[in-house]
Amino acid sequence: MTQELNDFINSIGELEESLIPRRVEQITDDFANSELSEAFGTDAFADVIDRWYGNQPGLLWEIIEKLRDRSPALASWANSSLRKLLKAPAEVIFDRSVLERNIKEKNGWNAPDEDVKRWFSALRIYLHTIVENADTQAKLDIVKQLWTNREGIRPAISKEWPVDARKLVGLEIKRFEEELNQVLTNQTVVVANTKAARARAREDLSLPGVVRPFGSRHPLRQTFEEIERIFLSLGYSVVAGPEMETPYYNFEALNIPEHHPARDNMDTFYMAAPAGASPLLLRTHTSPMQVRTMEKQQPPVRIIVPGKVYRRDNPDATHGFMFHQIEGLAVDTGITFCDFKGTVEYFVREFLGPKVKTRLRPSYFPFTEPSVEVDATCVFCGGKGCNVCKQSGWIELFGAGMVDPAVYGFVNYDAKKFSGFAFGLGVERLTQLKYNINDLQLYFQNDVRFLRQFV
Ligand code: DAH
Repeated sequence: MTQELNDFINSIGELEESLIPRRVEQITDDFANSELSEAFGTDAFADVIDRWYGNQPGLLWEIIEKLRDRSPALASWANSSLRKLLKAPAEVIFDRSVLERNIKEKNGWNAPDEDVKRWFSALRIYLHTIVENADTQAKLDIVKQLWTNREGIRPAISKEWPVDARKLVGLEIKRFEEELNQVLTNQTVVVANTKAARARAREDLSLPGVVRPFGSRHPLRQTFEEIERIFLSLGYSVVAGPEMETPYYNFEALNIPEHHPARDNMDTFYMAAPAGASPLLLRTHTSPMQVRTMEKQQPPVRIIVPGKVYRRDNPDATHGFMFHQIEGLAVDTGITFCDFKGTVEYFVREFLGPKVKTRLRPSYFPFTEPSVEVDATCVFCGGKGCNVCKQSGWIELFGAGMVDPAVYGFVNYDAKKFSGFAFGLGVERLTQLKYNINDLQLYFQNDVRFLRQFV
């Protein structure tokens, strides 16, 4: 029986689920009808009780736990059906047929005190065992209910006693109940203390805390902030504009008419517009904010415009369909090419270091005249010539120039009175030069091994 039972308990995890309840019922019936009934009244009783309801952990609890692990359905079945198993000892002890036989044999109840006392002391063994081995509050609650429930032990033993026996049984019940409450209270304290002790044992207060890594600013964000700091210190303000633009602001007002070749590498990402509405596109540069700003205010203007721009480019080490620019614009009375050159040189030295020299190379942009490319001495070789600068000693930084008077025509500025300059910084490019990054895609892949280098 023992081996078979152990085998069954161990196989609860694998057995066909629908077969389990019947098998458990069989086993508990067998137990109540043979093992338990046979042991009652002998020295073996306490052992049997201990084996089933006691510790290590006790077959009853083992079965319940395995059923709980197996499935929620079996767990709830166990809750209701295993009450029978819990009640079995009480039922065996207070077996009515024995009682009836006794009464018949003795021709009526003649106050067999010893019998009643024997029953209660057996019950005591059972309840002490189960309470004192309950190591969780949940188990204690089950025992409490087992005593008081409508279906429980107490209602079962309180009813239908022969008149003569009632007084003694009533007294025994009362005594027993007091004792049980005491044991339950004690055990509740024990359980709470062990739980607290276990929690304390698990906590090692000398362990260092969980280190939560601080995030860091993205390298592009760091470049934005660095450039903003430099121009704020020169009296510029930072403005932002829409990423969805009209062709007018993105092109026409910047002196790039519809069929101008300068549109070729920028004519891109148009959005479907409702019939009659003017089309929109994702801005290809931050320059439209030059126009939007000048439309709204008369000089002096000193702004920078950080933001995202979009182009129909296939992604590779130097291209992306989205990248970042910072536009710059200064317009005032009497701004000369010297102011422009001084500002550019100051910015480059602040950004790349005091040893870096700049040079301006003639170039072309429709909205500046003259236009230049700003070059710097190569930051990697100091101007001696290396792979990055293709042995030239110089690297291209950004485009710039004096604002073309044609642009003032679009914004109602008096071109005779005002002059100014503009520049367009590529944030990816400047970051790449500052940190020697060889692939633009790294910025957008969110690989922490890359990002961690900029903490
Ligand atoms: N908008 C130009 C581009 O995206 C960059 C640029 C060049 C901006 C010269 C300027 C400038 O303000 O003066 O390619």
